[in-house]
Amino acid sequence: MNPVPPAQPGKKLLLFKNKSPTPDASLDALPWQILIVDDDQQVHHLTREVLHGFHFEGRPLYLLYASSAKEAQKLLLDHNNIAVILLDVVMESSHSGLELVRFIREECDNHLLQILLRTGQAGQFPEESVFEQHDINNFLEKSDLTSRRLKTALKSALRAYRDIQELDQMRKQEQELRQTADHANRAKSAFLNMVSHELRTPLQGTKGPFEEFKSQFHLFIGMKKLRNQIDALPSTPHKESLLAALHELHQEVVEIASQGLQAVEHLLGLIEDILDFARIEAGKLSLLPVPCPVTPLVREVWNLIQPLADAKTLRLSYQPESELTILADSKRCKQILLNLLGNAIKFTAQGEIILRVRQQEQMALFEVADSGCGIPADKLETIFHLFEQLDNSLTRRAGGTGLGLPISRELVNKQGGSMYVHSTLGQGSHFFFTLPLAMHSSPPTADGHNP
Ligand SMILES: Nc1ncnc2c1ncn2[C@@H]1O[C@H](COP(=O)(O)OP(=O)(O)OP(=O)(O)O)[C@@H](O)[C@H]1O
Ligand SMILES: [Mg+2]
Repeated sequence: MNPVPPAQPGKKLLLFKNKSPTPDASLDALPWQILIVDDDQQVHHLTREVLHGFHFEGRPLYLLYASSAKEAQKLLLDHNNIAVILLDVVMESSHSGLELVRFIREECDNHLLQILLRTGQAGQFPEESVFEQHDINNFLEKSDLTSRRLKTALKSALRAYRDIQELDQMRKQEQELRQTADHANRAKSAFLNMVSHELRTPLQGTKGPFEEFKSQFHLFIGMKKLRNQIDALPSTPHKESLLAALHELHQEVVEIASQGLQAVEHLLGLIEDILDFARIEAGKLSLLPVPCPVTPLVREVWNLIQPLADAKTLRLSYQPESELTILADSKRCKQILLNLLGNAIKFTAQGEIILRVRQQEQMALFEVADSGCGIPADKLETIFHLFEQLDNSLTRRAGGTGLGLPISRELVNKQGGSMYVHSTLGQGSHFFFTLPLAMHSSPPTADGHNP
């Protein structure tokens, strides 16, 4: 059957809701497509009369007609934007309407289309069991279907269709956005990975000459020759001043080499952080948990951070409640401690930094306490986000990139623990993290202060 064109297309199409553009936004400008399926031509005619001039949300109707389920199937395949179907049950067979319902829901997998069953044989098809067995949206009896009831039923069906369609579009958009974001994220991680690896190799190479300058400068041939020549001179004040000048030169070279080495090590540290970040993002961070006694592990960290604390005359103390052994990746555990203790030293001007370790059920609880600048209450969570740093002078002076805490928390989480912070602005901070114990603690032995 030929579709009957809408009664009043045109003018009212300007009344549409102002919506963000979607792939189907153009549909907003189109009439609602309604399919009337009935083998009685009189029903087609009456429906057209009743729905003449009907609008929903400023959009008119576009009526399509079929006299059998077979014809309806064809129309459904040709028109993929039909919103509502007014469907008779008994047509070419006693169940053809219900078979069409199954075709729509199962074969076409169309759950958006609103199916309004309109039957003259309600006795043969009791409403309750039809609803139970078939995925329809409304059940209308022809005998008491007034024009008002039909319009109300159509309105509520179009409202449901519109809502489901919007939800569906939102879900599709969200899925697309997520896919784009995932793709961009993967590209970013791959890029960071590649750049970091490319930078790490040549940088690693520059470490060697700096180290050699620093520790072996006195063995350099030119330096040795000069030293021998001065040594061969008779003892005079001139020889003394030459020796002093040579010593000064040596000191200066060592100092320059140290600075160069420090800069290279800083850059290598940064690259390691970026690589860790890329590994975490790509889900490729692998950990090797083994039983690690805590005190020897802390001792290694202490050797690295004691000079930093000394340089700021900060007291550093280790206070284990008992000798614990954790089940952790020791390299990563040292990295976490280094970052927390390094932060405590960076953000403390005077006072003390304490590392406490105690057992908490099946976990070891580490606490890094400082008497530093503290963290505002509204920033206690954001500092664990990538690249987040506090906007204060200490942070600006300390430099850094804001990668240490997010990476540390991720390393702790991945090992089955958690990390959090308590802090009072102006008084200091307490960073806590837990790691699983490998075995139960032995009685306390340490007297504190030195690991
Ligand atoms: N103990 C602390 N006291 C006060 N502020 C802190 C402390 N630890 C961290 N912060 C704040 O949290 C921010 C984030 O710390 P995070 O370790 O992630 O980065 P960073 O130390 O600035 O740089 P990076 O660790 O990458 O070298 C710091 O910049 C600082 O503002
Ligand atoms: Mg840090």
